[in-house]
Amino acid sequence: MAKSHSPYSHFPVGAAIRADNGKIYAGANIENVAFPQGWCAETTAISLMIMDGGTQIVELAVIAERQAFVPPCGGCRQKIAEFALPEARIWLCDSVGPAQCHRLAELLPFGFSTDSLSL
Ligand code: THU
Repeated sequence: MAKSHSPYSHFPVGAAIRADNGKIYAGANIENVAFPQGWCAETTAISLMIMDGGTQIVELAVIAERQAFVPPCGGCRQKIAEFALPEARIWLCDSVGPAQCHRLAELLPFGFSTDSLSL
């Protein structure tokens, strides 16, 4: 979160993934003056995991400076689902630490998946 680039929303967000390789991948939201070109903290963390050879999100924590227990946006839920099992834990944090725990299946029920592509 401390490394967020969020001069437009002033809403710094941090995300940390614990991957199945045991590593932690942390990311922040990175905004752009052309607003839709910015991206979320979860996206940065997922990118770092994939580029490091990680494959699976075991659990993920999200924190925002200005809002306790900020939930991942819809787009991030879909991105997380690409690399996590339905039972993966999503931790929502406040300034003290991880507090609320939700399963991915709870956050993204009936999501678009490979079933839909008949793969
Ligand atoms: N944001 C995230 O980084 N993750 C989320 O799941 C929710 C929203 C960011 C995007 C934008 O930079 C700022 O929060 C305000 O929407």
